[in-house]
Amino acid sequence: MDLEKTHVPPSCTAQDVPTSRWNRTSRVRRSRVQRLFGVACLAFIAYAQWRQISSPGPDPASAPDVTVHGLSIKRLQEDLNVCAKLHKKPTDPIGYGRERNARYVDGHRPTLIRNATVWVGEPDRENGDSSWITADVFIEHGLIKQVSRDLDPQTLPSDVSVYDAAGRPLTSGIIDMHSHAGVHSLPTIRANDDTSELSTDITPYVRTIDAIQPTDYQLQVIKSGGVTTSLVLPGSGNNIGGEAFVIKHAVGRADGRNEISISDLLADPDRNWRYMKMACGENPKHIHGKVGERGPTSRLGESWELRHAFKQASKLLQEQDDWCQAASRDLNRVKGYLPNEIRWEALVGVLRGQVHVNVHCYTVPDLEAFVDHTNEFKFPVRAFHHAHQAYLVPEVLKRAWGDDPPALALFADNMWYKAESYIASEYAGKHLYDNGLVPIYVSDNPILNAQHVVLEAAKAYKYGLPYHAALASVTSAPAERLGLGQRLGKVKAGFDADVVVWDSDPLSLGAAPVQVWIDGTAQYEHPFELNKSFRGTITPDPNLATIVENPTVLHGDVIFTGITKLLIPNDSNSNLPITSPANVLPATFNLTISEGRITCLGICPFPPNTTDTASIKATTRIIHLRNGHITAAFTAIGSTLGLNSIDDDRTATDNGAGPTFSRALDGLALDTAKLRAAQRYGVTRAISAPKLLPGDVRSHHGTSVGFLTGALTVTATTGTTGAGAKGGAVFQEDVAVHYTLDQTVKTLNGVSTSGEVGRLRAKLLRAVAGLGKGRTTTGHGTDHEEAFLKRVVTGEMPLAVTVHSADTILALLRVKAVVEQRAAATAAEGIRMVILGGGEAHLVARELAEAGVGVVLAPMLSFGVSWDQRRALTGAPLTNGTGLDVLVDAGVVTAVGLEEDWVVRDLGLLAGIAHANSGGGIGEKDALGLVSGNVYRMLGLQEPDVREHFIIHEGSPLEIGSRVKVVGGGLGHVEVY
Ligand SMILES: *[C@@H]1O[C@H](CO)[C@@H](O)[C@H](O)[C@H]1NC(C)=O
Ligand SMILES: *[C@@H]1O[C@H](CO)[C@@H](O)[C@H](O)[C@H]1NC(C)=O
Ligand SMILES: *[C@@H]1O[C@H](CO)[C@@H](O)[C@H](O)[C@H]1NC(C)=O
Repeated sequence: MDLEKTHVPPSCTAQDVPTSRWNRTSRVRRSRVQRLFGVACLAFIAYAQWRQISSPGPDPASAPDVTVHGLSIKRLQEDLNVCAKLHKKPTDPIGYGRERNARYVDGHRPTLIRNATVWVGEPDRENGDSSWITADVFIEHGLIKQVSRDLDPQTLPSDVSVYDAAGRPLTSGIIDMHSHAGVHSLPTIRANDDTSELSTDITPYVRTIDAIQPTDYQLQVIKSGGVTTSLVLPGSGNNIGGEAFVIKHAVGRADGRNEISISDLLADPDRNWRYMKMACGENPKHIHGKVGERGPTSRLGESWELRHAFKQASKLLQEQDDWCQAASRDLNRVKGYLPNEIRWEALVGVLRGQVHVNVHCYTVPDLEAFVDHTNEFKFPVRAFHHAHQAYLVPEVLKRAWGDDPPALALFADNMWYKAESYIASEYAGKHLYDNGLVPIYVSDNPILNAQHVVLEAAKAYKYGLPYHAALASVTSAPAERLGLGQRLGKVKAGFDADVVVWDSDPLSLGAAPVQVWIDGTAQYEHPFELNKSFRGTITPDPNLATIVENPTVLHGDVIFTGITKLLIPNDSNSNLPITSPANVLPATFNLTISEGRITCLGICPFPPNTTDTASIKATTRIIHLRNGHITAAFTAIGSTLGLNSIDDDRTATDNGAGPTFSRALDGLALDTAKLRAAQRYGVTRAISAPKLLPGDVRSHHGTSVGFLTGALTVTATTGTTGAGAKGGAVFQEDVAVHYTLDQTVKTLNGVSTSGEVGRLRAKLLRAVAGLGKGRTTTGHGTDHEEAFLKRVVTGEMPLAVTVHSADTILALLRVKAVVEQRAAATAAEGIRMVILGGGEAHLVARELAEAGVGVVLAPMLSFGVSWDQRRALTGAPLTNGTGLDVLVDAGVVTAVGLEEDWVVRDLGLLAGIAHANSGGGIGEKDALGLVSGNVYRMLGLQEPDVREHFIIHEGSPLEIGSRVKVVGGGLGHVEVY
């Protein structure tokens, strides 16, 4: 009723058209003239508003306009039309057979992309398997029209614009099936966060389309990673979070659109399918439950909330169906209008199979309970998201209601951040695939930067998922799950012309687009292109399918053969026992180890005549590698490794101490899942500082401890005695004094950046003034902060500040200068300062280099997630290099740190990206130095002995297809995988 009222044109209302005639309580008969006029007006309105109403209805002059129950026949007929809509089951919209893409903007020229190496996205008829083909791609009216070899330009329209791909890889646009871009715009500002409607737990009636900010610059950053389509989901705070929408990343005229609007972003303007987000587990119960007042406070309560909601929806559905059936026979049989309730409308849509359900669910009980709900209420789930434990229960997933079991939308190796992500495996994708389920990799932007969601797929390949399934996991698989599998995710005639030409295989480290087309429109006029020569696509390595999760620990003598490269800088390999003529290593050489220590490198055993197996000790193990690469072991700096098992759980972590200054040494707790993973990936040492805030693993306050990640306790490196066991786990009790000056301090009451910079200056000046008065070397007691600061102002101990803002970094450099000036009389050296974070450090690279301040980038590839990082450089094709390139170029000693602990597996990969995308500025050994030697250089610490801290990789550690095979972690043994 409201609808009609609000849409009555003024000329009609002026004539007192009886809106009350639509009021059920009114039975007033009016004059025929009035009636005719009213009907004419309403006919006009109906024509304008509801074009689907085609039949003019009964002749108003002769037929009654109300039923025996006094209901408007016109309105009942409209309701009957709604019935038809309610019972319409959507199907996937067609791709092939369209004249033009509904999103096509007139005037855009057709395009021929010549000479590309094309990933079609489905198995080749001849080869049987998916593979790369050489082809030209012709695009017109926003559609891919032809994909074939050597298309003759003569046969194409004369205004075709030609793009020469020069043999480089071309894929369909990447699809991110889990994003909050637009609803959590960046940089994060509370006022801009519209991710979740938290007023109550069950909100199927809210829609992200009402909040997407087209001006969110992150939409552009994401596209620069080749992502053309995202599913923008509500958050996971609610058991039912609301409707989600699929958008494309072309915004406004600059991107070839006619206007800036949310509806213009919609990937399917016809909205064939609808989407909904649901969630289970930790978030809803923690956000909504209040003991004694409201649920859910437990998973028990969550299932009740969900079932109760589905029950409401199914009741309404039944009422609607009954009504439609009765009304379709005889309008006089119904006593009211079609039942509807905006609160449950979308959820009824779910039960009618019109809405694709995506559920955030991690653990076995969450997954199993939800699978039960699907069977109780008979609706399918398109994908379980996050789903870290899904790989443990493929059979449970297959019991979900519907034809296809849910897909799994995953991170490759981001885990441990909460209890429900504690049990997890980087091999999950492979396990699921092997069990006939579909893994899909997603960003959860801004949890991960969706710009690099293709890296998640690349890591999945590294962790054993077949190459073609990894590429499908960010293209055709999410397209199919979105119900857009005939339009998106493949490079075939009839598909939307969303394509990316890459500078390298998209699953290789550092792969970046050189051009992106959305609906046939090139998105970059002047893209930055990395200086990278394309050397062909990856040849999938079947060996990656073999997974060794647990190491073989070898204490005695081991010979490793088949080593091809030593990737240790000359200045740190001086103590390596290289045994070969003139110290020139042969193309393929050996390495021997005894008690976890390298004893020979080159021609080994030495002299060569001892190589006959008889003379090698019977106990000696021989392990053959195909393409062994030796590097120094990696060091993790900036994380909470050793202090924290589950990031946000207070009982499993050395909690943030707030203003209390503490020593990480005092909270060190070893032998955790995180540390085992560190060891597994060659990160044999970590330097960790206490957190400032309980919930924030990125904040630091107190002194950091340096320790061996493979040790069992602080005093015992292993259960057995060995050479490496002597020193215990800790190699440096107090490495650096840490403070935090990033945006986390602003969340503390009464704290400002200026106030904190001033406090730090005052503390340092007080330490200078106190020099000579009871100078302690190891701080204990209540004033130990000052004792440590005395060591800082004399240059004995580094000062590490967690900070991103270029302006705050400059303020710190001023503090450094002032304190050094004051201390000049007493202190031998200046302050050794290290910046942790450094999202905007590139803006002050020259100043940092001049002041001799090192930078630990954490993350290495900032994307301005917080306000104080908003000027981060996100890399090609948007920016000329990243902050890392600028810092290295300026001569700043730079390392790569961990902004969260899960990154520990990725340190080698990050070095690979740094190398690949440096345009030659960062050599292989320099790149590895970012995660090893440079950490020590900037802190003024001695590097670990490479004879005891080393990694042997199968393949180049700087490439995606390599595997860590052997780790020497200073423990008196090696671990072999
Ligand atoms: C395609 O590109 C490759 C690599 O640049 C080049 O060698 C080849 O000649 C090109 N083919 C054609 C037909 O242009
Ligand atoms: C490597 O070790 C194997 C096995 O002992 C031996 O046969 C081979 O000659 C060695 N090669 C080199 C370069 O030392
Ligand atoms: C990108 O940066 C590099 C290094 O600073 C510089 O040499 C080059 O000219 C820049 N390229 C462009 C296109 O600005």
